[in-house]
Amino acid sequence: MRNTNISKNITKSELIISHLGVSAIIEPQTSQKKGILKDVSCRMRSGEIHVLMGKNGSGKSTLAMALSGHPDYVIDSGSCVLEKTELVTLSADERARAGLFVSFQTPIEIAGVSVFQLIKTAYEQKFGLIENVLNFYHEVEREATLLGIPTASMHRSIHEGFSGGEKKRLELLQMKFLKPRFAFIDEIDSGLDVDAITMVSQYLKEMVADSQMGCVIITHYERLLKYLPINAVHLMSKGSIVTSGDTSLADQIMRDGFDSVMKKLEL
Ligand SMILES: Nc1ncnc2c1ncn2[C@@H]1O[C@H](COP(=O)(O)OP(=O)(O)OP(=O)(O)O)[C@@H](O)[C@H]1O
Ligand SMILES: [Mg+2]
Repeated sequence: MRNTNISKNITKSELIISHLGVSAIIEPQTSQKKGILKDVSCRMRSGEIHVLMGKNGSGKSTLAMALSGHPDYVIDSGSCVLEKTELVTLSADERARAGLFVSFQTPIEIAGVSVFQLIKTAYEQKFGLIENVLNFYHEVEREATLLGIPTASMHRSIHEGFSGGEKKRLELLQMKFLKPRFAFIDEIDSGLDVDAITMVSQYLKEMVADSQMGCVIITHYERLLKYLPINAVHLMSKGSIVTSGDTSLADQIMRDGFDSVMKKLEL
């Protein structure tokens, strides 16, 4: 991205990614790795919604996974500062406790842990013991209903046997209760039917407005974008953010395609 001096002037509610370099671990035993992201920089404030677009394989999910602390990725260089806390040196749990939430493109399936148990455990790890579990359960049920998730699903193993669209809604349900300061949401719209997109984007919009969470949405479609107030659009290519702009950049990409936009911008 163009901004090269972004580590300066850190204010309270900002996520500042500076010159991030990331490799995928190809062979854990020999620590063999493959460089994927180069010099990725981006900054956002709480309450903002940013969109990250790019061709297949450009590195969008790698950015989200590396920031989450996923063990398949290593951050070779650069920093990611969330409200003055350097995340890069923290464990995945510590990053989550610091206020980062990442919804993966392909959510992880955990057998034997129910949806409610997972939300309750994650909540307690972050905020301490829940005193009135029944009240909490009803709160989770209420939010699940708003997201169109049948309340009977609360007792099913997390993600096991859930449809693609249901898994995505469950990710949002977890996010609602973990109250992150910043979230990366990787292709939340993939697998959602047209009514679900309207419902999920409305839910996300309200969550951002209420909590002032900052949010990076990774998407290939403009469907989600038309319902959300977007503050910035970033274009990733070959492991770097090559340009950023407003929603007209997303419109241009959807109309003309990545290659044409990159050519016009002489990238
Ligand atoms: N664990 C890994 N091992 C080897 N290569 C990887 C690994 N993770 C990602 N890559 C490679 O890094 C590149 C970026 O992948 P990534 O999943 O980040 O792309 P993406 O922009 O999210 O694409 P899509 O739009 O298809 O989801 C791809 O070439 C991918 O094959
Ligand atoms: Mg991806």
